[in-house]
Amino acid sequence: MSVSIKIGVIGAGTMGNGIAHVFSLYGNDIILVDMNDEIINSALSTIHKNMERQYRKDVITEERMEKSYNNIIGTTNLEKLSDCHLVIEAVKEDYKIKSDLFQKLDRICNQNTILASNTSSISINDLAKNISRSDKFIGMHFMNPVPVMKLVEIIKGDNTSKETLHSIKELTKSIDKISVECNDSPGFVSNRILMPMINEAAFCYMEGVAEVDAIDSIMKLGMGHPMGPLKLADLIGIDVCVYIMNVLYEGFKDEKYKVCPLLEKMVSKNQLGKKTKEGFYKYEF
Ligand code: NAI
Repeated sequence: MSVSIKIGVIGAGTMGNGIAHVFSLYGNDIILVDMNDEIINSALSTIHKNMERQYRKDVITEERMEKSYNNIIGTTNLEKLSDCHLVIEAVKEDYKIKSDLFQKLDRICNQNTILASNTSSISINDLAKNISRSDKFIGMHFMNPVPVMKLVEIIKGDNTSKETLHSIKELTKSIDKISVECNDSPGFVSNRILMPMINEAAFCYMEGVAEVDAIDSIMKLGMGHPMGPLKLADLIGIDVCVYIMNVLYEGFKDEKYKVCPLLEKMVSKNQLGKKTKEGFYKYEF
């Protein structure tokens, strides 16, 4: 696959709008799908705002900004994805929602379309189970914020073909990102290592070992992390963190992955982090 192809992105939330943003910057035509017009319009305005920031910082020209923004079409109609080369799913981290969606896409998309999931932790083999093209199914795990982070963790399912893997690696290179491969396993590599650290940081706060700022400062100044674990949890979304810990717990049946009760409590109070303006920190927009 080279540049200028048609790419569908489903889910216009934190990750979906970043994925659409980056692919459009490299000249691809994007169809961005979500459940209603309000969500889509809000995502388009976020993308525009983020592109303007890149323009003001001289990362992109005004012409590239306008052209890229115009490359993105928002819709609620999945049928519009029928002739895409690639469809990337970035909806809620929930097996049933994703699996239902892939079964629909399997019917809608032409037989050459590659289907990719941006899941943080759900098994690629399980998601491929109920579709007819498991050879054209792959995990494409972007990092948040997508326009900034270089890595795309590529997860191969048991049936992912060499051709699919090759196309996705080339495409990742074409948007100036770096792909690193791994096999299908709960949490893959990134979240199997990252999430227990975030969970442990939440335990430290819950047990009164230190305040939020202190925990983050210790990890930043002492371990050289660019962002503390609790700030990162807010950025990722506390609900997403809880979901991933549960996938690790269920997948490995090991108590060390038991989710911190404080994280569960925050989800029940809708303190999901940056996206709800409150998590371990408070946010004003
Ligand atoms: P989000 O909650 O910000 O956005 C999800 C979007 O999907 C929402 O706009 C929602 O309306 C839409 N949606 C839900 N069901 C849909 C359906 N059936 N059809 C169309 N749209 C639908 O979630 P976020 O954070 O963007 O996460 C998306 C995926 O990316 C999840 O699988 C998550 O685990 C993964 N991910 C998240 C990261 C993060 O830092 N937040 C990092 C890497 C991966």
